[in-house]
Amino acid sequence: MLNSIFLQEILRAENLKKYFRTSKGLVSAMRTGSVSLVKAVDGISLRLDEGQVYVIAGESGSGKSTLARLLLRAIEPDEGRIIFKGIDITKKKDADLKEFRRNVQMVHQDAYTSLDPRMKILDIIMEPISIHEKRSSRGERQEKVYKALEDVKLEPAVELSSNYPYSLSGGQRQRVALARALVLRPAVIIADEPVSMLDVSVRAGILELMKDLKNRFRISYVYITHDLSTSRYIGDKIAIMYAGKVVEMGAVDTVLLDPLHPYTQALIDAVSEPNPTNLLKTRSIRIREGEKIFSGGCNFYFRCLYSMDKCKKEPCLRNRRKADQFESSRDHFVSCFLYD
Ligand SMILES: Nc1ncnc2c1ncn2[C@@H]1O[C@H](COP(=O)(O)OP(=O)(O)O)[C@@H](O)[C@H]1O
Ligand SMILES: [Mg+2]
Repeated sequence: MLNSIFLQEILRAENLKKYFRTSKGLVSAMRTGSVSLVKAVDGISLRLDEGQVYVIAGESGSGKSTLARLLLRAIEPDEGRIIFKGIDITKKKDADLKEFRRNVQMVHQDAYTSLDPRMKILDIIMEPISIHEKRSSRGERQEKVYKALEDVKLEPAVELSSNYPYSLSGGQRQRVALARALVLRPAVIIADEPVSMLDVSVRAGILELMKDLKNRFRISYVYITHDLSTSRYIGDKIAIMYAGKVVEMGAVDTVLLDPLHPYTQALIDAVSEPNPTNLLKTRSIRIREGEKIFSGGCNFYFRCLYSMDKCKKEPCLRNRRKADQFESSRDHFVSCFLYD
């Protein structure tokens, strides 16, 4: 049960925006002078509480990775604020920024490119300690690396740490990436599609490990995925993104069991259910063929089965107000005129 009153806020985004100016081919842009604006993140607000997992879901190109980079302060927002433990860190520099970076770590999608192939596992995991704990001795650092490897269940730690990434499987590499993120005992880990490039057979193990680390070290996660099937296993809250905006958010169970936004419904249709009888049915996905983004109104207008005239105006995220309101639906927000 989501009970935000008793939970401590750890990270909050307020109206974050990031627009990219792109030219479709340099030559044509020079000729026509046409530059288009991609609203990668377009006014996103969310609140992550201590020990919770906030799932960000949406199809490829919806702005998830850009949001992750904004939350990490890897890129600067055009607008909006990032609040960490109650302090606005949007413009912080030097020591304050370093302290923030120590506390908010990242795990990338591709464990094959995110680990430096020229470095031993020991040095890969030790690197953040060397940056943030300059006064520690080599021996202390090594002990922390071994402990982190044990925490992610890569054993025997001493032996394994002298290997290079190429000798590890995809799942083991992702465990190394988690150990590296974990070694400084951060408050938050942002995991950008951490299992999507792994074989289905090893995905569950990594998710189970993430859940275990969350409980043992009270880490909060922002868990980014284009695949809803893993969300219910790991998530507490979820935000569904479409074209840079959140179209629906709430407790994971509420949103996935009672989806309101037509886009969320279409995403759920697309998740295959592990029920053999479903294999015989023709799957119907509630979505229209159409241009991806309608600008100036609801982004989903062209693809929505229920588009109405008023959808040419921009909807905003509203709390679902129902007479028979359950506690869990109090935090259920949707951006759609069907519920006005
Ligand atoms: N550095 C960049 N320059 C230009 N466009 C970008 C840049 N990064 C992302 N985009 C665009 O922003 C949109 C969102 O991208 P991204 O955040 O990577 O989405 P997702 O992670 O959900 O697939 C896409 O249209 C992408 O092409
Ligand atoms: Mg991405």
